[in-house]
Amino acid sequence: MTAMWDMDEGSLGRQGPLHPEAGDAVMATAVPPSSKARARAVRPADFSALVPGRWLAGGVEAARDRVQAHLESLLPPEDGGVASAMRAGVLSPGKRIRPLMMLTLATDLGCRSPALLDMACAIEMVHAASLVLDDLPCMDDAALRRGQPTVHRQFGEDAATLAAVGLLSLAFRTVAQAPGLGPQARSKAVVLLTDAVGLAGLVGGQYQDLREGAAPRSAEAIATTNHLKTGVLFDAAFGLCAVCVSADDATRGRLSALASELGQAFQLMDDLHDCALLSVDAKDVGRDADKSTLIATLGERETLARLNAHVTEVLRHANAIGAHRLADQLEAVFKPALAVAARAD
Ligand code: IPE
Ligand code: IPE
Ligand code: MG
Ligand code: MG
Repeated sequence: MTAMWDMDEGSLGRQGPLHPEAGDAVMATAVPPSSKARARAVRPADFSALVPGRWLAGGVEAARDRVQAHLESLLPPEDGGVASAMRAGVLSPGKRIRPLMMLTLATDLGCRSPALLDMACAIEMVHAASLVLDDLPCMDDAALRRGQPTVHRQFGEDAATLAAVGLLSLAFRTVAQAPGLGPQARSKAVVLLTDAVGLAGLVGGQYQDLREGAAPRSAEAIATTNHLKTGVLFDAAFGLCAVCVSADDATRGRLSALASELGQAFQLMDDLHDCALLSVDAKDVGRDADKSTLIATLGERETLARLNAHVTEVLRHANAIGAHRLADQLEAVFKPALAVAARAD
């Protein structure tokens, strides 16, 4: 059941220490992108297998490569400055969970729109921009991301900040220019992405995380922050798929519910990584030590129980709209965390 995604323990980050040697370099202030990252970055684009409606042709690895190649084609060429920082922020070996989920959902929904790959890459660019900002010294002050020094450690805080803004701009342009959409669908897609970045999404969630997360908070307040900083982007990802396939309101509603549950589950799992309760995720751990996460508020056991409940809801919503491949994929994503939860019971 999990073969198509295959993310068992250790490979949940399959980004897992892909570049273990980078850990030694994290204290450096200006480290050039690793040769492995460059090798990945120049992999040639091959869209011959990209038959609309068969987004997963060739399996998940092929889909991941297709996303990577398309991202490369959308990004500006290396310039040793901001463009290089943008490329490093996006092309470093992330899991690509959001675009892959979009391709999977599109397959489940029978989507044949040529806009889909652009939409998936736009979401990944927004996600990458959010990580570049999140890692800055004025935010989580992280040294390691995706097994490599964070973008500001490689290129400086000025270039990293501008690279994040550049990525957001490129993401909006990519959605606005995606092929094959009518004017209404196009405008809906742009609004979806814009809202996911703004005050009712990443910006609002990150601000709450930084300012309110420093003091004790209720579980409800934490859930609100997690929704804004993580769930809303999932909602936009599924929403863009829905636009591509002209989904009806009932399906759209289910997808929103699915995204909300997924946002909670995904952030709780990420927080469990941060306190090293789950295997290390190729990034700094202990960044949340002073934050009022759900683990700090309710403890590990209750957090694992809530994670389990959110994943159950995720699968229920996915299966209810016939998104069975997506359900299988998500079940595999959470499998290692759920195994820990089962042991804690
Ligand atoms: C990390 O997201 C940030 C959160 C929203 C918790 P991912 O775990 O998807 O990070 P990458 O893209 O694989 O690096
Ligand atoms: C931030 O949450 C999620 C974003 C929207 C960037 P975290 O601060 O927990 O993410 P990581 O652990 O640094 O990836
Ligand atoms: Mg962080
Ligand atoms: Mg985290």
